[in-house]
Amino acid sequence: MKIAVIGSGKLGGTLGGKWAEAGHDVVFGVREPERKRAERSAENPDIPFESPHEAIVGSQVVVFAVPASAMAGIVETHADDLKGKILVDGTNDFGSAGMSHVDKLLTSAPGAKVFRAFNSLGWENFADPTFGGERADLFYCGPEDTQASKVVEGLIQDVGLRPIRVGDLEQVSIVDSVLTLWFTLAVGRGLGRHMAFKVIRD
Ligand SMILES: NC(=O)c1ccc[n+]([C@@H]2O[C@H](COP(=O)([O-])OP(=O)(O)OC[C@H]3O[C@@H](n4cnc5c(N)ncnc54)[C@H](OP(=O)(O)O)[C@@H]3O)[C@@H](O)[C@H]2O)c1
Repeated sequence: MKIAVIGSGKLGGTLGGKWAEAGHDVVFGVREPERKRAERSAENPDIPFESPHEAIVGSQVVVFAVPASAMAGIVETHADDLKGKILVDGTNDFGSAGMSHVDKLLTSAPGAKVFRAFNSLGWENFADPTFGGERADLFYCGPEDTQASKVVEGLIQDVGLRPIRVGDLEQVSIVDSVLTLWFTLAVGRGLGRHMAFKVIRD
């Protein structure tokens, strides 16, 4: 699977590294690819840096892992490139009522399959998703499109987490409330950032 990860920081760098390890064709879309190539980190030595445009046009899946303040500009600039692709929003806008950018993606990129995932846990849990040998769950939402949701579930599994689909995009606030709970426990209650959730049932 060709995946463009827009942003190569804590979230994007961790996810991109996991997917490259799993055999995907990953590229980082960054604002200064030349500088990134020169500074190349030892963590993900084989993943190319390209401009967001080059990364997006060459990929089937685009995962957003940039600060919320950068999202509107990126989505508007690349709206044509994003049409029809599988788009995964991992960004969090703590300053606004709606934490995600799924509405922006839906209106700017008609025909895209938009998902909300990878936003509700600290990046440390993507780097190491197992606890006492058991893998944690990741809540996500998106369209009931069998092919696209299978792709997104595969990407969640390739990070090492178990996907739990909460529903379609109308459930985005439920997925985002998991982030609020995560912060409350991990940071507010001092449980630490390597902390995730698991659904148990009969
Ligand atoms: N950190 C977490 O645990 C975590 C977990 C879940 C979700 N998130 C969400 O993921 C997003 C990224 O967080 P992060 O912690 O990974 O941040 P980060 O480590 O600071 O990385 C941000 C990345 O975005 C790039 N970037 C910044 N401004 C940009 C712009 N205007 N245009 C293009 N690229 C730009 C940065 O590129 P440069 O290197 O060029 O600055 C960097 O690659 C945020 O929305 C955050 O809420 C974070």
